[in-house]
Amino acid sequence: MQLPILDQHQRPLRSLRLSVTDRCNLRCGYCMPEERYAWLPKAAILRYEESIALVAALLPHGLRKLRITGGEPLLRRDLTDLVVGLDALRASSPNSPGLDEIALTTNAVHLEDLAAPLKRAGLDRITISLDTLKPDRFLEMTRRDELDRALRGLRAATASFEGTKLNTVVVRGENDDELADLLRFGAEHDVEVRFIEYMDVGGATRWSMDSVVPASEILERIAAAFGEPRPDSAPRGAAPASRYLLPSGQRFGLIASTTRPFCSSCDRARLTADGTFFTCLYAAEGADTAPTLRDHGAEAAARLIADTWQKRSDRGAEARAASIDRAALAGADELRSRPHLEMHTRGG
Ligand code: GTP
Ligand code: 5AD
Ligand code: SF4
Repeated sequence: MQLPILDQHQRPLRSLRLSVTDRCNLRCGYCMPEERYAWLPKAAILRYEESIALVAALLPHGLRKLRITGGEPLLRRDLTDLVVGLDALRASSPNSPGLDEIALTTNAVHLEDLAAPLKRAGLDRITISLDTLKPDRFLEMTRRDELDRALRGLRAATASFEGTKLNTVVVRGENDDELADLLRFGAEHDVEVRFIEYMDVGGATRWSMDSVVPASEILERIAAAFGEPRPDSAPRGAAPASRYLLPSGQRFGLIASTTRPFCSSCDRARLTADGTFFTCLYAAEGADTAPTLRDHGAEAAARLIADTWQKRSDRGAEARAASIDRAALAGADELRSRPHLEMHTRGG
């Protein structure tokens, strides 16, 4: 059996975020400002057979977890076909390692009818992005009036799946007064809520450090509402979230990507819908795997990915946190002039 590949900091490539489309039906201000986008041309998008063959070829290199992302992945037609193909790549014996987990991140607007079919197709877990429970605010933050449909989608997810999670990006002055309501909602629907610090990425064109609510402050506010949370002792591994327990026993997570980056254990890579491989959320350039995949097959494309991973030395969020500190020290706010990546093409 082949040994898993390691990067320059000895991090394995365990987890792949597979974006299946760059399109989205919402326009969250921190991700996709309302403007005209040059969408990827249809011919450039990897077909499901191509993606499945590539994932299969990455298994011997150590890949174990897959997360389907977008844009909004449920906009891609017949997504269940992809899940069926991925489900066939599960481990069949200890000597033939396969996929351990297939998860999906979605805004849930189209989930009501799709949750049960996705479960039958073999999907393990769903994470739902939801930033507010107020209809007017949902419209303001996403520029689409879809809260009801998203909530119906969430209920369908919890009816079909165990372990559904909710991701909330906290933006000061926009939704930071809803932390307690979201946690109560999480308890009521049995979903683990994770609060994410607003990141300076992608379409976050109005990002400034002032609009970030640091995880430490989120924790203080939660303590004031529910009593002191205690850290969950379950191992965190390479996951971005630090988990806590409220005195009631309810678990929640904090993703401190801006103030407490977690690069040292990062085992995640990203593949865009047109097959560009990125070794970091903050990487400015990726490896275009599509020509190799189409001309020489999945194993050659997997070798290209493995070579790219072995050269990887990224610590993007840590580097950015350091530059935020420097800018703060200099009293300057030049951060927005640094190159920015399109989060909606990279699946969050
Ligand atoms: P599970 O815990 O398995 O549900 O998945 P996860 O922790 O990877 O969570 P999810 O995929 O929902 O990611 C949550 C959020 O964390 C993303 O939407 C991003 O905002 C952030 N995130 C994920 N990966 C990275 C990363 O590599 N770097 C940084 N800085 N942030 C990330
Ligand atoms: N900051 C933090 N998270 C973001 N996402 C997109 N843009 C940002 C940002 N600027 C994440 C959200 C969403 C996922 C699809 O991408 O967590 O749930
Ligand atoms: Fe769409 Fe997700 Fe970006 Fe919102 S954060 S615009 S739901 S891709």
